[in-house]
Amino acid sequence: MPPTLIDGKAMSDSLLLELTQTVQQFRANTGRDPGLAVVLVGSNAASQFYVEAKKRACHRVGITSYDYRLAASDGQGALLELIDHLNQDPDIHGILVQLPLPKGFDEQLVIERIQPSKDVDGFHPMNLGRVFQGLSGFRSCTPYGVVRLLEHQGIATAGAHVVIVGRSNIVGKPLAALLVQKGVDATVTLAHSKTRHLSHVTQSADILVAAIGVPEFITGAMVKEGAVVIDVGINRIEDRRQPKGYRIVGDVDFDSVSPRCSAITPVPGGVGPMTIAMLLNNTVEAARSHAGI
Ligand SMILES: NC(=O)c1ccc[n+]([C@@H]2O[C@H](COP(=O)([O-])OP(=O)(O)OC[C@H]3O[C@@H](n4cnc5c(N)ncnc54)[C@H](OP(=O)(O)O)[C@@H]3O)[C@@H](O)[C@H]2O)c1
Repeated sequence: MPPTLIDGKAMSDSLLLELTQTVQQFRANTGRDPGLAVVLVGSNAASQFYVEAKKRACHRVGITSYDYRLAASDGQGALLELIDHLNQDPDIHGILVQLPLPKGFDEQLVIERIQPSKDVDGFHPMNLGRVFQGLSGFRSCTPYGVVRLLEHQGIATAGAHVVIVGRSNIVGKPLAALLVQKGVDATVTLAHSKTRHLSHVTQSADILVAAIGVPEFITGAMVKEGAVVIDVGINRIEDRRQPKGYRIVGDVDFDSVSPRCSAITPVPGGVGPMTIAMLLNNTVEAARSHAGI
């Protein structure tokens, strides 16, 4: 039987529709719109693409996005000054600094400069730590999107062995933090580049999450028959047959993995749209909390 394709685009569309109604309600109650500051430093083409997609989604649900562009040559001081200003601005409820930052910028310093109550990406150690402890706080958007996708798809996490390949602070670690919480109840293995016998580990997964950044790294032989496979990866690979000269693939080799699994996220159209939906969700939450709703 072919696997179920987990349609992140459809779920994101329905979440954006719900958010549109929440924003209308917010506007009726407060006379204001939720505001998201979108900060882009430098001219990375992929970052420009993501920023535009996030701004379009804001527009769709009625969040006002405020655009801030800095050149890499403006330096880190200018970025920190801007964040200080945005932290104080009452029209700004969420601050998104698009990563990666250009060479020479200290990403951790920049992340920690954002007021935790406006850290809608959920990268600030205060939010990460609170979420890890099972307390309220902004959940990192991609991990939160993965958990919502699993829930929506009716994929049971309680007692399931989830193997996450990749331990970054923006995907692997915060996803592990969400999955081990009471109520979600997964048993989590966090694998990385030093993991021994990686195939052996991945073959033991009921749910396998790939967040590696290596195109089509996970192959069919690494996946248990009937497993659920979540592909977080977004990689551009050269393809001269495409008008743009490249195509987007995940960290999972879809062709060899899909015949073995019970459900799988496509790339594009899987986790990516959910990340944006969760960013907007967090922004609306930030605005509501700021307004005491
Ligand atoms: N869908 C979305 O919205 C979204 C959001 C964020 C990221 N992404 C994508 O997700 C992927 C991961 O992003 P990231 O920022 O988490 O990447 P990252 O910071 O580069 O982390 C990659 C992780 O993969 C591990 N890894 C690399 N090579 C490996 C190997 N051969 N075997 C086992 N583990 C290996 C690394 O291990 P070490 O720690 O040992 O180095 C690291 O933990 C990328 O494709 C990125 O584009 C997608």
